[in-house]
Amino acid sequence: SRRSYEFIEVSEPRPGVGQVTINRPKALNALCTPLITELNTALRAFQASPTVSAVVLTGSARAFAAGADIKEMAPLTFSGAYTTSFIESWSDLTTALKKPLIAAVSGHALGGGCELALMADVLYCTPTANFGQPEIKLGTIPGAGGSQRLTRAVGKAKAMELILTGKSFSGEEAERWGVAARVFADYDALLEGALATAEVIASYSRVAVQAAKEVVNKSQDLGLRDGVEFERRVFHSLFGSEDQKIGMRAFAEKKKPEWKNE
Ligand code: HXC
Repeated sequence: SRRSYEFIEVSEPRPGVGQVTINRPKALNALCTPLITELNTALRAFQASPTVSAVVLTGSARAFAAGADIKEMAPLTFSGAYTTSFIESWSDLTTALKKPLIAAVSGHALGGGCELALMADVLYCTPTANFGQPEIKLGTIPGAGGSQRLTRAVGKAKAMELILTGKSFSGEEAERWGVAARVFADYDALLEGALATAEVIASYSRVAVQAAKEVVNKSQDLGLRDGVEFERRVFHSLFGSEDQKIGMRAFAEKKKPEWKNE
């Protein structure tokens, strides 16, 4: 699965952990369409990889991503955007990978960069990370789920204010408002923290981990009654896995479980 990419770097820095680093420094990691295509390819490869159980997505200390590529979008027409389904491929990012994705955000995460971070399963950042949906300043609106995911994350009052004013918010605020699960002092600590969490996740049964991600994500789409029922169905189905037997037997025998991922 070693491919060469132009706009991203891909590695496996720890056992069970894949890493994608957005690497387009000249444009502060602006997310042009070829970059999103590479990201989709890399996530699909990690999904298929027998050695990877969780993935960390990061940028540089200065920028996670400063948005969709404004220079690419500037000349677009309605009919062009509509007939090519512009931005639709971004949605593949949320389905390509069933394994957990941890975003490690330092620096700018603006517009599409903020939306990309919001697509991750776990979001970590630095206190000075610069989040925001500034599209309104460019005469447009969020187009990759920002109005939906940010609103679910921070509530309507704050999301409406942020999206209508285009004002950014800090990593500290992101944590306080529940957008980020944790803040780390600087980029190095952030990346270390993200990799450490990915390693913890990678130490568990892949079957259970995928199910856990699936049921939590369903909570964003379903009402409570349907969501609880969906969770119970998936919970029941895990009694059909070998790893449930392995995990519970190991507890009773006071041993460390040796997962089969089956
Ligand atoms: C294209 C970008 C870019 C972007 C930065 N660059 N952001 N190119 N698209 N989104 C380029 C600049 O043009 C510049 O290129 C280089 O990166 C460095 O940026 P500077 O502006 O010189 O850096 P600085 O002064 O440090 O300012 C950083 C910044 C600013 C505050 C992040 O770059 C900025 O405001 N960027 C745009 C942020 C934004 O509006 N994002 C939302 C985009 S709309 P040159 O060639 O001049 O050196 C969007 C829509 C999403 O994302 C909807 C669908 C996904």
